[in-house]
Amino acid sequence: IPVIKAALLGAGTVGSGVYQILEWQKEEMPKKLGAVVRLKKILVRDTKKQREGMDSSLFTDNWKEILEDPEIQIVIEVMGGIEPARTYITEALQAGKHVVTANKDLLAEHGKEVLDAAAEHGCDLMFEAAVAGGIPIIRPLKQCLAANHLTEVMGIVNGTTNYILTKMTADHMEFSEALALATELGYAEADPTADIEGYDAARKVAIMASIAFNSRVTFQDVHTEGITKITAGDIAYAAELGMVIKLLGVARNTETGIEVGVYPMLIPREHPLAGVNDSFNAVFVHGDAVDDAMFQGRGAGKLPTASAVMGDVFEIARDLRAGSTGRINCTCYKELRLKPAEE
Ligand code: NAP
Ligand code: HSE
Repeated sequence: IPVIKAALLGAGTVGSGVYQILEWQKEEMPKKLGAVVRLKKILVRDTKKQREGMDSSLFTDNWKEILEDPEIQIVIEVMGGIEPARTYITEALQAGKHVVTANKDLLAEHGKEVLDAAAEHGCDLMFEAAVAGGIPIIRPLKQCLAANHLTEVMGIVNGTTNYILTKMTADHMEFSEALALATELGYAEADPTADIEGYDAARKVAIMASIAFNSRVTFQDVHTEGITKITAGDIAYAAELGMVIKLLGVARNTETGIEVGVYPMLIPREHPLAGVNDSFNAVFVHGDAVDDAMFQGRGAGKLPTASAVMGDVFEIARDLRAGSTGRINCTCYKELRLKPAEE
């Protein structure tokens, strides 16, 4: 059975999930892929840190060992942040390696640049895990729904804030206690400011809008408001009205331009989004041919996110077996056509 060598950049919440799924899939991989994907190196900051269940002989803190190893064909970036992730991903693509990333910060700001690098070097750059954790949404937008004129993509796209709002509503928990639990469960970003201020959701909205509307939408284009000002009083008042509060990300492709925003909204208790709780996310899509479609599932956490990462890795491995990698990425974006602000 052919062995496809990969390197993992990061062994935190998502990286440890990727490692675990690779172990779980050892026996099924040959049947599914006609090959086995095996990790050759794992890049971390601290090679001495104890990481339960992981083979410590794979750890390195030297990127060049991975970059310059011609055997490594797939680089899985789950470190997070813009730098050095942007440099490593670009260098990996320039070296002809395929890349899978969960890094929405990078994609929402420099997506075009890295996708162009992938296209230029005939490599794949896949990022299903960057939006809504374990829910398949990137590939549906890019492929399954590609024959539609899409006019709306909206929903709950941050697991941490949905978990906090759920706990504040159902268990009357304090904001800070709920945030601490979300961090413990591996839902929150390394700096949870991005979650609670809505920046993480805004990055996901920018990525989805860029693909759905074939336009270049970046994080800076998204009007953003988080949940830090939501009080227990607001939640009680919403309940009196038969409503719940949810943080929504909304992208609309209108006659006059594209609207993108993230804000807390009051939702009637009987609305389908009102029942999306805990770390679950849900995304509604409207297209001229498909009509309405909804995608729902775990939007954050170790295994759900690693599931999406590994789906991308398996797809690349299958293509490598078939000798057909280097798909045409979404780099043909039109310029942004943002709707002018209301007077
Ligand atoms: P994390 O738990 O903080 O893990 C980050 C890992 O990357 C750590 O192992 C760290 O090494 C390593 N690392 C960071 N900077 C590095 C550097 N400069 N050089 C070498 N190694 C470095 O983060 P995470 O929650 O797994 O998230 C990883 C990525 O996935 C982020 O882009 C995040 O936005 C995205 N994501 C996360 C989730 C989720 O639910 N957590 C869901 C979707 C997407 P040390 O261990 O040695 O410090
Ligand atoms: N911090 C993110 C969230 C991780 O809570 O949704 C998944 O992207």
